[in-house]
Amino acid sequence: MRYRKLGSSDLEVSEIALGSWLTYAGGIEADQTRACTDAAFEVGINFFDTANVYGRGAAETAWGEILSGRPRDSYILATKVWGQMSDDPDDRGLSAAQIAKQIDASLARLQTDYVDLYQAHRFDPDVPIEETIEALQKVVADGKARYLGFSEWTQEQIEAALEIAGPDLFVSSQPQYSLLWQAPEVEVFPISAANGISQIVWSPLAEGVLTGKYKPGEAPPADSRAANESMNKFIDRKMSDETLEAVQRLAPIAEGEGISMVELALAWVLRREEVAAAIVGASRPEQVHANAAASEIELSSDVIAAIDAALGDAPVKEPELAPLAQGGVKHRA
Ligand SMILES: NC(=O)c1ccc[n+]([C@@H]2O[C@H](COP(=O)([O-])OP(=O)(O)OC[C@H]3O[C@@H](n4cnc5c(N)ncnc54)[C@H](OP(=O)(O)O)[C@@H]3O)[C@@H](O)[C@H]2O)c1
Repeated sequence: MRYRKLGSSDLEVSEIALGSWLTYAGGIEADQTRACTDAAFEVGINFFDTANVYGRGAAETAWGEILSGRPRDSYILATKVWGQMSDDPDDRGLSAAQIAKQIDASLARLQTDYVDLYQAHRFDPDVPIEETIEALQKVVADGKARYLGFSEWTQEQIEAALEIAGPDLFVSSQPQYSLLWQAPEVEVFPISAANGISQIVWSPLAEGVLTGKYKPGEAPPADSRAANESMNKFIDRKMSDETLEAVQRLAPIAEGEGISMVELALAWVLRREEVAAAIVGASRPEQVHANAAASEIELSSDVIAAIDAALGDAPVKEPELAPLAQGGVKHRA
């Protein structure tokens, strides 16, 4: 496993990180969550990403139970705040009160005194940005997080925050990024790079679509995310025949390189130096091993060109993959 520096922080994160969305929020059994997490340590993964909203605390609770058995300095832990946490419509977002409440709840569930990275899961257009920034900075000042990041903020939102607090505010950006969703390259990568902010990218396998295991016109494998009603709400929109056909065209390229399609897809996101880590999900320990193997692989420019040609228009024909629509920036009166 190779490691990369996370933005302007002193954290060295594994190129392959393990995420806990859907899977460890209740999608798979607790013993499998433990087996996948143990497998991550075996292959040198030191970077773990969760969020308060995953299973409304369930994913953090699961990892709290597992990770608290290990030395705290043996893993880099990231969580997030923003999502709807209860049926109370106000129990969401990035107000000062919500951030103060949610960081304490996350730390209690994770059974730790601090997280290494605390991320704004989305932007909150209803709260003055100054209030959000001060509340996040207080989390760091109180020793409850070491560094801050954001996920799926627009260029306008990133610029507004950096104008107020300077480039040291954030060390990471967490966008969706994969062979099927390349949009962050246009705006988010450049403004982040100019300000010492790394990308840690989510769904780099497009929830498993890029493994090639979903075939056009065929039912998904019974043990897959797409066949699991508790986990297939988001993957469905990535499963058009056109997309699945484009993905199948990648198979001979991977074969020609002597690598798996998983390795091809993950090495492709890691080819960009702006990317510090690819955050994968895994429902079985074998997948953790298979995904970790991508860390050692470099793709030549010929292979990258062949991938582009094989995909054709597939990456841009999936507007449904876009992040949630987001509002503008509100300032304090
Ligand atoms: N910031 C955000 O808004 C946001 C949003 C989404 C996710 N995330 C983060 O990103 C992480 C990863 O997201 P993701 O789970 O969608 O990532 P992903 O790695 O693109 O997809 C993971 C799924 O693909 C399948 N898979 C993985 N490795 C495989 C392999 N080697 N062979 C065959 N199938 C394999 C597994 O599903 P099955 O075995 O069940 O088919 C697995 O659960 C999340 O856990 C979370 O931490 C963040």
